[in-house]
Amino acid sequence: MASEAARIRAAATRAVVWVGQGHTLDRALAKPPIPVGEGRGRALLQELAYGVVRWRRLLDHLYRRCLSAPGRTLDETAHALILVGLYQLKFLRVAPHAAVSETVAAADCLGRSWAKPLVNAVLRRYLRDPGMARESRTQGVRESHPDWLIEAFAKDWPSWRDEILRAGNEIPPLALRVNVRRTSRDAYLKRLDLAGIKASAAAHGPDAILAGPHPVREIPGFPEGDVSVQDAGAQWVPLLLDPRPGERVLDACAAPGGKTAHIAEHTPALGALIAVDITPERAALIEDTFARLGLAEAVRVHRGDATTPGDWWDGERFHRILVDAPCSGTGVIRRHPDIKWLRRPDDLGRLRILQEQLLRSLWPLLAPGGTLLYVTCSVLHAENREVVGAFLKGMTDAQEVPFTLPVGHACNPGWQILPGEEQMDGFYYARLRKVD
Ligand SMILES: C[S@@+](CC[C@H](N)C(=O)[O-])C[C@H]1O[C@@H](n2cnc3c(N)ncnc32)[C@H](O)[C@@H]1O
Repeated sequence: MASEAARIRAAATRAVVWVGQGHTLDRALAKPPIPVGEGRGRALLQELAYGVVRWRRLLDHLYRRCLSAPGRTLDETAHALILVGLYQLKFLRVAPHAAVSETVAAADCLGRSWAKPLVNAVLRRYLRDPGMARESRTQGVRESHPDWLIEAFAKDWPSWRDEILRAGNEIPPLALRVNVRRTSRDAYLKRLDLAGIKASAAAHGPDAILAGPHPVREIPGFPEGDVSVQDAGAQWVPLLLDPRPGERVLDACAAPGGKTAHIAEHTPALGALIAVDITPERAALIEDTFARLGLAEAVRVHRGDATTPGDWWDGERFHRILVDAPCSGTGVIRRHPDIKWLRRPDDLGRLRILQEQLLRSLWPLLAPGGTLLYVTCSVLHAENREVVGAFLKGMTDAQEVPFTLPVGHACNPGWQILPGEEQMDGFYYARLRKVD
């Protein structure tokens, strides 16, 4: 019977293979393919899988350096297991010889017993001479990003490219949003303190708190809806959309409902809050979010395509519309490192068509004088200012309503927070008004 330590390494290996086959890390880890204990076991599995995917390109480079026959190609699973081993040796403070022996033992759980001598040899070679894996001259290897993405960052943010790459490799803080209907940030910080959880108010964003890693279900008041997990960079929606009591608000790409819920917490007694999402399983998450917050009555959820509102719209216009558009996710790579390997350059053109379609289809639903807030978690102009700029050019009744935030960069049109700035994820916001 394999030890728990070996099973954790084996489960991480399977998750890495899954991501290599095109699945997201979230999905790969939702139900560990090899059972591991809850608590610390689960946390280590998470750390190994995220770490290897985050540093995949650098680890592949080390792997090649440590092979006795560098051209040799290996079965995908055995290869991933070696990466799991190298990650521990390079990045974790674990006893190296224990890490090697547990990684080698994991080969049995994966049906790769034949690979044990090779796994052992590669990891021991690295241990004997970590200098063998000397720094690569290729930035994409050192920073473990694909070259096309580095070029895209350099083109759009020439002076910020290195910061964006560095931020993409950081382990993000746990960011919380206090439910202002239930408590205040100061009161909640005291509660965390009493529970022995180190946390501090985010420098910007009135409802945001930053803390160290912690199992979400064990966060005080989380199950009761006193607090939600949401990056501080995502918490500007109520300020910018500014919904008022009695108004009708549409969140057109709403799942899992983080921003919809923030709106509901901030503005009780809205005339209506409609949340739409095209993916049925994700739309169900909006209902779960609102049930946890005790606000189930505050929202109506439609499973539908926001580009065809005729299918779900009752014909009454909205005072405020939020379009949190599907995008490349290049602003949230530190939380989802699989994005680096799952996205392809040609995704951007496809996404841009959808983003433009969303704006064009939803604009007629906005009442004269109403506000539309366009948001993405991308840092690429092609999905942000170019989409909004083209839309404004084509619409005589649309105006930008400029604003500044205490963090980020004016984009004309819109505003960009780059990942890592004030510990936030990267978000783009643009505010438009329908001329009366
Ligand atoms: C960036 S996520 C939204 C995150 C959400 N606003 C939040 O803060 O929790 C984009 C969402 O758009 C949805 N989506 C993609 N295409 C859509 C479409 N044509 N109509 C409606 N929703 C769509 C996706 O299923 C995804 O849930």
